[in-house]
Amino acid sequence: MTANEEKIIVLDFGGQYNQLIARCVRECNVYAEVHPYTMSLDQIRDMAPKGIIFTGGPNSVYEESSPHYDRAILELGIPVLGICYGSQLMAYMLGGKVATAPISEYGRTRVDVDTSSKLFHGIEEETDVWMSHTDYIEKIPDGFRITAHSSVCPVAAMEDPDRKLYATQFHPEVTHTREGKKIISNFVYTICGCIGTWKIDSFVEEKIRQIKETVGDKKALCALSGGVDSSVAAVLMSKAIGKNLTCVFVDHGLLRKDEGDHVEEVFGPRGKYDLNFIRVNAADRFYRKLSGVEEPEQKRKIIGEEFIRVFEEQAKKIGAVDYLVQGTIYPDVIESGLGKSAVIKSHHNVGGLPDCVDFKEIIEPLRMLFKDEVRRAGKELGLPDSLVRRQPFPGPGLGVRIVGEVTADKVRMVQEADAIFREEVDKAVLSERPGQYFAALSNMRSVGVMGDFRTYDYAVVLRAVNTTDFMTAECCNIPFEVLQTCMRRIINEVKGVNRVMFDMTSKPPGTIELE
Ligand code: XMP
Repeated sequence: MTANEEKIIVLDFGGQYNQLIARCVRECNVYAEVHPYTMSLDQIRDMAPKGIIFTGGPNSVYEESSPHYDRAILELGIPVLGICYGSQLMAYMLGGKVATAPISEYGRTRVDVDTSSKLFHGIEEETDVWMSHTDYIEKIPDGFRITAHSSVCPVAAMEDPDRKLYATQFHPEVTHTREGKKIISNFVYTICGCIGTWKIDSFVEEKIRQIKETVGDKKALCALSGGVDSSVAAVLMSKAIGKNLTCVFVDHGLLRKDEGDHVEEVFGPRGKYDLNFIRVNAADRFYRKLSGVEEPEQKRKIIGEEFIRVFEEQAKKIGAVDYLVQGTIYPDVIESGLGKSAVIKSHHNVGGLPDCVDFKEIIEPLRMLFKDEVRRAGKELGLPDSLVRRQPFPGPGLGVRIVGEVTADKVRMVQEADAIFREEVDKAVLSERPGQYFAALSNMRSVGVMGDFRTYDYAVVLRAVNTTDFMTAECCNIPFEVLQTCMRRIINEVKGVNRVMFDMTSKPPGTIELE
């Protein structure tokens, strides 16, 4: 984004879909940034946004402790769209009445829409939207008109076009709102008058500029894992600060088969990038720390902490390193509970970090992007397809794919099984390519028979999911013959495994990784 490029500000009142709103706007090729509702009116005015969106949130506007905003924001002449809590807040700020609804609405809801509204231009008169509210607008403010209602919600949308104020009780940003994208695009183009010139390359350029400004001639250390996120972060950083960046690749012994060598080939001295690259072989150290530990969160924290300690040691050796760079992306941030949502698991890079980190600052240049946006940024930075298209691999690695205690022998089993599964899926002709697919090791041992002998060995779990944003996922339909080949090969080739299972669970209720 260049300084004078059009921009939408998403003012965050604590709802869980805030980044999805920003992403929907960015999909319209208009830059959007999420800021907390505590951002001052002067700051907002200085940013000269083309439009402002108030997000949803868990509170009730009539409670004193709930987040509010200076009413003058509605008088700037900048179009405002209030969503859910944001719509109630708009009503409340302008003298309307908000109350607890006689009937709460959650989930897919049919609404009748007034398509003469600029916001609903081109939308079906009856459409499905996603509702999630217990409060509702009982009385709209003077000057407003109602533009949508459901059977139980009299004000599903309202507007005062003269003041460029629009509000929806439902969430246009979630995919369950059938025509949500069209609604957001109507707001952005027709109401805010945006042209839509923003692309991911503007993001990359702006990030490089910001990083140059922040880091100056100081040194930074990048945690490079060879995965998509950290590779994109590393190349972006190196474009910004050149040789003041050192990439440290920690082989924690929890990587996929042969992955350590592959990463070294790509980013090391024989690779095409001119990076300062250090490989630290630390498997034994991680296995020691993980010995006897079974609880998933504890494992994540141990791996996260040990990672940081290794980095700190490297940083000391290099000397005067102020910044630590990480490839954290947005789903990591929300699922670690750093937004307002509940902690699902501590994604290492984020919540898995120890409280005390011996760097002046952590830089996470991709923190606001979703995975597919990171891939586009990677392409823009000239990274090869093989790297950009690579399926994600979690920071704690096989540590979260081995249920229960991690041992070197279990790592070997899961590495070999995973290599077989990936090889077979890669060569199969599939109608759909899974977004992520891997083998994990269950903590279950069961009795089997091989040749004339009894076995009492581990069960491998194969997992393949379709997903674009990694926030939700569905089981991918892998042909039975492919699964059968994998089962046969794994049992024959991987010592210690006598059973293979296929995990069909979607997310939710499962998560993609097993731990
Ligand atoms: P879950 O298991 O939370 O995974 O559904 C969602 C996506 O995130 C990846 N993942 C991680 N990535 N550090 C990462 O960098 C982590 O600690 C981590 N845990 C999960 C996972 O592989 C999937 O793509």
